[in-house]
Amino acid sequence: MKARRFGYGFVAAVMAMTAAGAAPLVSRAANSYQMLAQAASTDNHDSAPPAAVTADARAQAAEIFTSRCATCHGDQGRGNGPAAANLNPRPVNFHSRKWQRSVTDARIAQAIVQGGKAVGLSAEMASNPDLENEPAVVAALVERVRKLGK
Ligand code: HEC
Repeated sequence: MKARRFGYGFVAAVMAMTAAGAAPLVSRAANSYQMLAQAASTDNHDSAPPAAVTADARAQAAEIFTSRCATCHGDQGRGNGPAAANLNPRPVNFHSRKWQRSVTDARIAQAIVQGGKAVGLSAEMASNPDLENEPAVVAALVERVRKLGK
């Protein structure tokens, strides 16, 4: 009973606060959060917000794909690189529509940075800790993986 009365009281208090102008306060707080998020996304050391893919990041991603990923995933991302034959499970074929539909960009990014084990896959899928503070390069790699699936 007590809890119930508290429940109604709480609703009434929220309604009163809204009437008293809490809504503009809330939206002002949301605005300053957006500003913070924008500031953070221009900071290369913050990996949280999705980073803009620059031409430079694309060039680095292309180089990384050839030098690191192609060994297992293949030059064209078909999961048939020189090292793939020895792997079980095999590297993902990025051309698989089914696989493309099953993953989010955030999960692909996590698999790239933290490795397969971090997303419940084979530990053979190597982590790339040096990319942790390179959100634009990671975003460019995700973009590349997505393009191979189109
Ligand atoms: C040593 C071999 C190897 C290398 C190098 C490698 N991968 Fe993988 N990768 C794998 C294997 C094996 C899997 C599949 C794991 C499974 O199905 O359990 C995988 C899975 C993935 C996935 C799927 C993740 C998911 O959530 O479904 C992505 C994306 C991926 N790799 C991207 C990359 C990228 C980009 C690179 C280069 C930066 C890379 N991999 C380098 C072996 C490798």
